[in-house]
Order: sequence, then structure tokens, then C-alpha cells
Amino acid sequence: MIKLIVAVGRNGEIGLEGRLPWEGTFIEDQQWYLNNTLNAVRVGCSGSITTIDDKRAFYIVSARNIVAPGSLGIYNWRLMKPHEILCDVQAKHPTNDVFVVGGVPWYEASAHAVEQLLITRINGSYTHDRAINMDILLQNRKCMKTWEGRTTPDLCFEIWE
Ligand SMILES: NC(=O)c1ccc[n+]([C@@H]2O[C@H](COP(=O)([O-])OP(=O)(O)OC[C@H]3O[C@@H](n4cnc5c(N)ncnc54)[C@H](OP(=O)(O)O)[C@@H]3O)[C@@H](O)[C@H]2O)c1
Repeated sequence: MIKLIVAVGRNGEIGLEGRLPWEGTFIEDQQWYLNNTLNAVRVGCSGSITTIDDKRAFYIVSARNIVAPGSLGIYNWRLMKPHEILCDVQAKHPTNDVFVVGGVPWYEASAHAVEQLLITRINGSYTHDRAINMDILLQNRKCMKTWEGRTTPDLCFEIWE
């Protein structure tokens, strides 16, 4: 299945100086991310993948001629449409989930092409330098399930289709 996963603050904030605005605060959300993407293939911008220090499978989306050590390949977002990129990755990895993992332009450009969105709402306002427009992500979508964090009511998990 092709999915998108993001954690977002009250104002759409998702990033600060290459990290999460609430970096290190919500272990339950980190675990949620890891559990969901453990056996999946992630597709994201270089800044979004390199913030995650692990050896799991990933592809980079970039229009630049960059070196992406550890990646399975680079897709040029200027030359291919988001659904073409994601379908190509899914075809190469038919038994794995494929996850859109950011950053902002890639989330907003590819959201229409995913089958499911896993959203973590962080109940707080944070200093940030990256924010997404959730209206774009959730356009024509329906919330299928929502539940509060086990460890804190400041986390709310949502599944949209
Ligand atoms: N809260 C969360 O769930 C979450 C998830 C992921 C990332 N983040 C945070 O977001 C920040 C990282 O952002 P980032 O550096 O990865 O990305 P970004 O700064 O949000 O996005 C910039 C990059 O997007 C690419 N891009 C531009 N237009 C595009 C398009 N139409 N389609 C696809 N890609 C396009 C470009 O890559 P090229 O220049 O290489 O072509 C550009 O450099 C960090 O602070 C990170 O912690 C948060």
C-alpha cells in the first residue's frame, strides 16, 4: 500500500533546523513512525531522510544532482509525476508498504497519490521553519480512525483514506 506519514503541530509545523520542532519529546510518536516504516520503503527529500539515523530502505526525490549514500535510487520530481514515482517504487517492492516521508513540497505534491495518510497531531505550537498545509493533504479524504496517545493526551493519531 502507498501511504504518507507525518507528525504535525497545531499550526502545520513539521520542522525546525533540520529536525522536528518538538525533537525528542514524544517517544510514542517516534515508536509509531518506526513501527510503521520498519519493513517499508520510504520516499522523501534528502533533508527528511537524513534526519532519520537508520539503515532502512529509502529512495530520494530530488531534481539536483546529489549524492545520496545508502539510498536505493533518486527520482527527479521535475521529470516524473508523484504518482509515477510512487507506483514505480511500489512495483519494485510489491510486498512492502511505500511511505511518503516529506519534506513539505513532496508531502503536498504527492498526498493525492497515496492510499492512506497516517497523521499524528501534536497538541502544541512550536517555533518552526517548515509547515505544511493540511488542507492540501486532506482534500477529499475521510478520517477512518482516531485515538489519543497512550502516554500523553497531547498526541492524537489519525488514519485518513
Ligand atoms: N514532522 C514530520 O513528520 C516531518 C517529516 C519529514 C520531515 N520533517 C522535517 O522537515 C524538515 C526537512 O525538510 P526537507 O529538507 O526534507 O524538505 P523541505 O525543505 O521541506 O523541502 C525542500 C526540498 O523539496 C524538494 N522539492 C521541491 N519541490 C518539490 C516537488 N514538487 N516534489 C518533490 N520534491 C520537491 C527539493 O529537493 P531538491 O532541491 O533536492 O530537488 C527541495 O530541496 C526537517 O526539519 C525535518 O525534520 C518533519
